[in-house]
Amino acid sequence: MKYAQNILQTIGNTPLVKINKLATGIDALVLAKVETFNPGNSVKDRMAVKMVEDAEADGRLKPGGTIIEGTSGNTGMGLALAAIVKGYKLVCVMSDKQSKEKMDILRAVGAKVVVCPTDVEPDDPRSYYSVSKRMAEEIPNSWYVNQYDNLSNTAAHYEQTGPEIWEQTEGKITHFVVGVGTGGTISGVAKYLKEKNPDIKIWGIDTYGSVFKKYHETGIFDENEIYSYVTEGIGEDILPKNVNFSLIDGFTKVTDKDAAVYTRKLAVEEGIFVGNSAGAAIKGVLQLKEHFKPDDVVVVLFHDSGSRYVGKMFNDDWMRERGYLDDTITKAEDLIKDHVDKPLVVVRTEELVSHAIDRLRKYKISQIPVVDTTGIVGSLDETDLFRSFIADKNIADKPVKEVMGKPYPIVKAGTSVDEISKLFSKDNQAVLVHLSEDKYHIITKHDIISSMK
Ligand SMILES: Cc1ncc(COP(=O)(O)O)c(C=O)c1O
Repeated sequence: MKYAQNILQTIGNTPLVKINKLATGIDALVLAKVETFNPGNSVKDRMAVKMVEDAEADGRLKPGGTIIEGTSGNTGMGLALAAIVKGYKLVCVMSDKQSKEKMDILRAVGAKVVVCPTDVEPDDPRSYYSVSKRMAEEIPNSWYVNQYDNLSNTAAHYEQTGPEIWEQTEGKITHFVVGVGTGGTISGVAKYLKEKNPDIKIWGIDTYGSVFKKYHETGIFDENEIYSYVTEGIGEDILPKNVNFSLIDGFTKVTDKDAAVYTRKLAVEEGIFVGNSAGAAIKGVLQLKEHFKPDDVVVVLFHDSGSRYVGKMFNDDWMRERGYLDDTITKAEDLIKDHVDKPLVVVRTEELVSHAIDRLRKYKISQIPVVDTTGIVGSLDETDLFRSFIADKNIADKPVKEVMGKPYPIVKAGTSVDEISKLFSKDNQAVLVHLSEDKYHIITKHDIISSMK
């Protein structure tokens, strides 16, 4: 009989799969190391178990102890499997940017999940780095894993992922491309491959909002490079010890939009249902295509599974809200499609200006059409209100009809965005679209600007 003694023994030996349609523009063989085949559905199972076993071996982790880690989910899953099989408790500290699915999955495998804010400095006491460290100090018999600086992380990839790739490509690999977060994957694989053949080129995928690329190119840790971004799993605002910059030949940055769009393309064009950093990685390979020759063998690593992103990159509403779906916006009806179901907010001629102000505030809008029993007869916007207020400080108690401006121009649903843009001016802040008999909707400057993305 052939069976594993426990789930941990099924980690590794993941397949290498040729990328077909998405690599048609590339003059080289592109192979993906698909790490979702691990039991925890990500590459992180490998390093999680290695970190636990190394800590057990040198006494940092003792029987019945509590494992504490700041994790975006995948390392947590690997640690959870190790904790279950080996009898430890697990606390995962996550930033609130991470998908809800990732948190639910960790709870499903018995971890306690603590959520921290994303948009704080790493040394802020609320950051997930600080919270994890503090919990490790406070909980007795606990061990803080610290995947960023724990070099067992790199060692796992040096011992497993690197040799697997070398053997699967029969030593023909010429380039390795992979997203960089803690740096364990890139550094471990790079060390092994460069020992085998120093000519193999190692490329890291970085995000806009992360320090890696600039630091690699200039040696400068530039805080201006740090801002929040959407892509999950890669990029950092710190320099983890696991990133061995001397083994990396270059970085390329991939935008949040491209990473999201290519995550979906991998699913629908290759049938490879993988996570957001895989989308960034394959887009990075395309960005690097000038570096590849016809006989080259390019290996790109896909870290985790698409199932962790069903509420995000695989959700049309989520994608549309961020302007990531390339719906072509050419007409009036395209401009309002996100809010067409909401009723048009209006104010009546006889209402007081204070009512109009309440409504502007409540709906977070800057302009409002004015109606009477005959239909739309005027408009009121922040500019009109400001002008009237300068002339008369008691404006709030006046009826709207005394301060309203001209009604907004009306266009048809099929009017082009170009035509509509021309209707905006210093004196005209919006345009109305006539949808059906008495149904109108409003187009604001904000709608036009959003369509430029
Ligand atoms: C989804 C995903 N992609 C990429 C990475 C980056 O891998 P590494 O930490 O080995 O650099 C991680 C881990 O942080 C991850 O969870």
